[in-house]
Amino acid sequence: MKVYVSFWLPEAPMNVLREKHTVVVNPNEQLPSPDELVAHLADADAFLCVGSKVDRAVIDRLNPRLKIIANWGVGYNNIDADYAAQKGIMVTNTPDVLTETTADFSWAILMAAARRVAEADKYVRDGQFKGFKPFAMLGSDVWGKTIGIVGFGRIGQAVGRRALGFGMKVLYHDQKPIDRQREQELQAQYVELNTLLRESDFVSLHVPLIEETRHLIDARALSLMKPSAFLVNAARGPVVDEEALVDALKSKKIAGAALDVFEKEPEVHPELLKMPNVVLAPHIGSGSWETRTNMGHVAVKNIIAALDGRTPPNLVNRPAARKP
Ligand code: 8YV
Repeated sequence: MKVYVSFWLPEAPMNVLREKHTVVVNPNEQLPSPDELVAHLADADAFLCVGSKVDRAVIDRLNPRLKIIANWGVGYNNIDADYAAQKGIMVTNTPDVLTETTADFSWAILMAAARRVAEADKYVRDGQFKGFKPFAMLGSDVWGKTIGIVGFGRIGQAVGRRALGFGMKVLYHDQKPIDRQREQELQAQYVELNTLLRESDFVSLHVPLIEETRHLIDARALSLMKPSAFLVNAARGPVVDEEALVDALKSKKIAGAALDVFEKEPEVHPELLKMPNVVLAPHIGSGSWETRTNMGHVAVKNIIAALDGRTPPNLVNRPAARKP
């Protein structure tokens, strides 16, 4: 059967897929346009979706044979999974394998913002380091502070677990508290979002992008944060109202931000580019060779299961009827 892959991926999982199916990989350095995507999928049985947007308009034009859209990523807000289900198309994601790597990276940018790592690197490269100065590049302490984690699922909890190593107090908010025993293991305390925003020195976002979380961090939320606090976003750009964030940073309502994702990705608000107290990264939370390879393996497992007529392990929607 034919599988279309919308961006090249590490070879190991691709080779596993090639053993069973015909694999066509987009050879270009950019994603196919919606028209190109529909054309490539015209005779495909499965789609390994690497960052492509698959909305209603695209789904309406898909060939009726297409059985599965296997998203290469845990967040699948790029795909209208409910509408795909109505059309009998399975949608899967790649959870678990990227949890720890993404938590590592959230910490990397949190630390970089607090301790001014990107600025310090530039300072040295620009030849400004002429000798030790007691007041050069002073940042904010991380250890012993309070981290507020918004979204306490797999990744949020992995971020919280790391905070204990820094002797931090861990607050979290989610739709509901996690189970008591796990909460105790993680020494994390459930609080309302407003309390979290008021009391945290670092607010780290780990929610999926759904209707309820769009602009969850808006002007009002930012106004509750401490003037010494940092916002960290390695989740999804539209969870933060970027315009409001720029205003909050400009008016020093908060101290800084660490952003791996952007509201209109890949566009970055031009004001953010000018701010030295903002650390920027190009959506690389899960970006280690090992993890990106493992994400490929998970997506491939989902495709092979679906094309074998089995339920894929990471099905996220409930197709009305199974295709033959
Ligand atoms: C993916 C991600 O690389 O898994 C996710 O949700 O954000 C990343 O790991 C990205 O979604 C690919 O488009």
